Amino acid sequence: MFRHIRSDIEAVFENDPAARSRFEVVFTYSGLHAIWAHRAAHYFFRHKWFTVARIISQFSRFMTGIEIHPGATIGERLFIDHGMGIVIGETCEIGNDVVIYQGVTLGGTGKEKGKRHPTIGNNVVIGSGSKVLGSFKIGDNSNVGSNAVVLREVPPNCTVVGNPGRVVKRNGERVKDRLEHNQLPDPVIEMLRDMQNEIDRLKTDLRELREPVNGGDFRK
Ligand SMILES: CC(C)(COP(=O)(O)OP(=O)(O)OC[C@H]1O[C@@H](n2cnc3c(N)ncnc32)[C@H](O)[C@@H]1OP(=O)(O)O)[C@@H](O)C(=O)NCCC(=O)NCCS
Repeated sequence: MFRHIRSDIEAVFENDPAARSRFEVVFTYSGLHAIWAHRAAHYFFRHKWFTVARIISQFSRFMTGIEIHPGATIGERLFIDHGMGIVIGETCEIGNDVVIYQGVTLGGTGKEKGKRHPTIGNNVVIGSGSKVLGSFKIGDNSNVGSNAVVLREVPPNCTVVGNPGRVVKRNGERVKDRLEHNQLPDPVIEMLRDMQNEIDRLKTDLRELREPVNGGDFRK
């Protein structure tokens, strides 16, 4: 337990340049308080004391503004920055060294039963206000941009932004499938090009049909 507490505090110093002293971190970081309350709630949840688990989690929510369902599985060194407005669902699994900012929802879409919340890999950053909805994985070392709405699996080492979330970087390289406004397709030119091809094809067919009659000159 003390090893966990020490590594939770270390995670704050690693991720927050504003952190000054251990005393300040222990007493003023609501993200830490929520994680510690969750460890207690999760213990009771695993031992089927569901109501006690819920009471701890709701009390923690009241104090910190962070709602972590007691059933959620959380790895080592999770850092919750600011925290207010975070919701983490019951079947959510979070790996090690994850950073979550305020206003994040790790939830379901409201349609599924059973495993219905996301699995977050190791070393993932989930930006403020973003929503990750559904039972899929955010791969290791990926970033979710603030205010993204992610509805599909994200491979490892990616950056996903926007609503709906789309991958804009993979392995440090920008992904090319974004809309280039200076290279928009022109439907009129494309239609004319198709018509020209069709006319050429018809001319060839006609020439072949007339070949035996007038040597292939279809204008005669
Ligand atoms: C996504 C993020 C982690 C950066 O990841 P990254 O891999 O370094 O990505 P980049 O900064 O290279 O940006 C890649 C592209 O995504 C765009 N982008 C970055 N963050 C974005 C966001 N939140 N929404 C929309 N687009 C975004 C960039 O403009 C860039 O676009 P371009 O290729 O057209 O120039 C960061 O922008 C972010 O959102 N962090 C969350 C931080 C946060 O919540 N802070 C709260 C502190 S209180």
